[in-house]
Amino acid sequence: VIDIQKLYGSAGVFTYDPGFTSTAACESAITFIDGAEGVLLHRGYPIDQLAAESHYLEVCYLLLYGELPSAEQLETFETTVTRHTMIHEQMHNFFRGFRRDAHPMATMVGVVGAMSAFYHDSTDINDPWQREVASFRLIAKMPTIAAMAYKYSIGQPFVYPRNDLDYAANFLNMCFSVPAEQYNPDPILARAMDRIFTLHADHEQNASTSTVRLASSSGANPFACIAAGIACLWGPAHGGANQACLEMLREIGTVDRIPEFIARAKDKNDPFRLMGFGHRVYKNFDPRAKVMKQSADEVLELLGIENNPTLQVAKELEKQALDDPYFAEKKLFPNVDFYSGIILEAMGFPTSMFTPIFALSRTVGWISQWKEQLSDPALKIGRPRQLYTGPTQRDYVPVAKR
Ligand code: ACO
Repeated sequence: VIDIQKLYGSAGVFTYDPGFTSTAACESAITFIDGAEGVLLHRGYPIDQLAAESHYLEVCYLLLYGELPSAEQLETFETTVTRHTMIHEQMHNFFRGFRRDAHPMATMVGVVGAMSAFYHDSTDINDPWQREVASFRLIAKMPTIAAMAYKYSIGQPFVYPRNDLDYAANFLNMCFSVPAEQYNPDPILARAMDRIFTLHADHEQNASTSTVRLASSSGANPFACIAAGIACLWGPAHGGANQACLEMLREIGTVDRIPEFIARAKDKNDPFRLMGFGHRVYKNFDPRAKVMKQSADEVLELLGIENNPTLQVAKELEKQALDDPYFAEKKLFPNVDFYSGIILEAMGFPTSMFTPIFALSRTVGWISQWKEQLSDPALKIGRPRQLYTGPTQRDYVPVAKR
C-alpha cells in the first residue's frame, strides 16, 4: 500500500488536477482572462480596443514591454523587426532537406528548433541583450519561415521579405507572390491578416505557452522553447482546431447536411465534436471571436462566398448552432479558430497553413512569457508530480521463469 501522505504530503498540500483546470503554475502580468464574462486584456487593454485601434507590431511591443510605445519607440521597434526578417541563406538548405509534401507545421518545428544552430549567439539566456535579440529574431523571422514552409510544400521558389510592406502585407506577399507576378494585397485583406495576428498574439497559460514555460524552466534556449510551443500548438484541440474546423466544413459539404452533424455533436455515443466551438476558459462569447466574426464578414463581402460551398456551410452552421439549446446550455460558442479558418480559406490559404499562421502570431506571446519567466528571481524548474497507479514493489523474475 502506498502511503500518499508520506510520499506527497511532506511538500505541503498535494493536488491532483488533470488538465490543470484549477492550478496556477506561475504569476504573470501579461494577459488577463475572465472566461465567464468573456473578457481578455493584454497588459490591461481590452482585446477589442487593440484589434480595432492598434496593430500587431504595436501589440507585440505592449506584450513584450508592458506599456504602449511612444511614436519614436514604435518606429524603432518596427524598424528593428523589419531589419531581422531575412533568414540566414544557409537555412534554405535546411528547408530543402524536408520531403516536398511535408506539412508546414512539421517544417516549422524543425526549422525554428534549428535556429539554435544558425543564431548561436542568441542562445545565451543569461545575457539580457541576447534575450532581446532572440525576441526580435523570432518575431521577425517567423513569417518568413512560415511562408517558406508553404512555398516549399507547393514547389514554388521562396519569396524574400520586403521592407517596404508592413508585417501582415509582407507575409501575404511572401506567400502569394511568384517570380512572374507580385501579389499586391488588398488593404482589407492585409488588415484582416493583421487582426488574425493580433487576436492570436497571447492567451495566458494555454497548452503551448505552458509548454514553452516548462521547456524554458530547465534553461533551454529560446529557439528550442519556441519549437516546443509550436509542436504543442499543432494538436487539433489547440491550434490545429482551425484546420480541423475547415476539414469538418468540407466534410459537411452542403448546407442541408448541417442538422445531421449537429445531431452527431450532441450524441454522447458519438465522439464527433463541432470543431471551432467551445473553449476551456470562455463560457461566454470569446471576445476575440466577436472581432474575428466582424473581420470574416468584411472579407467575405469583399471576396464573395457565392462560389464557395465551404463558406456557405460555415455561415449556416454558425447560425444553426447558436440557435440550438444544447450549445447554449453547455455555453459552447464559436471560438476564434472558427472564424480565422473562414477568413484564411477565403484569402486562399490551404488548411495546412492555418496552424503555422497561428504559430507565427503566438510567437510574441510565447516570447513575452519566456522573458517574464526568466526575469523571475524565484524561477524553479517545472516538475509536476503524479498519482502513481502502477504495481507496488515486486521481485524481478528471470526471463526463463516467466
Ligand atoms: N461540440 C460538441 N460538444 C462539445 C464541444 C463541441 N465542440 N465542446 C465541448 N462539448 C461538450 C462536451 O461533450 C462536454 O459535454 P458533457 O458535459 O455532457 O460531457 C461539455 O461540452 C464540456 O466539454 P469538455 O471537453 O469537458 O470541455 P473542455 O474545456 O475540456 O474542452 C475544448 C474545451 C477542447 C476546446 C472543447 O470545447 C473542444 O474539443 N472543442 C472543439 C475543438 C476546438 O475548437 N478547439 C479550439 C479551442 S480554442 C484554441 O485553442 C485557440
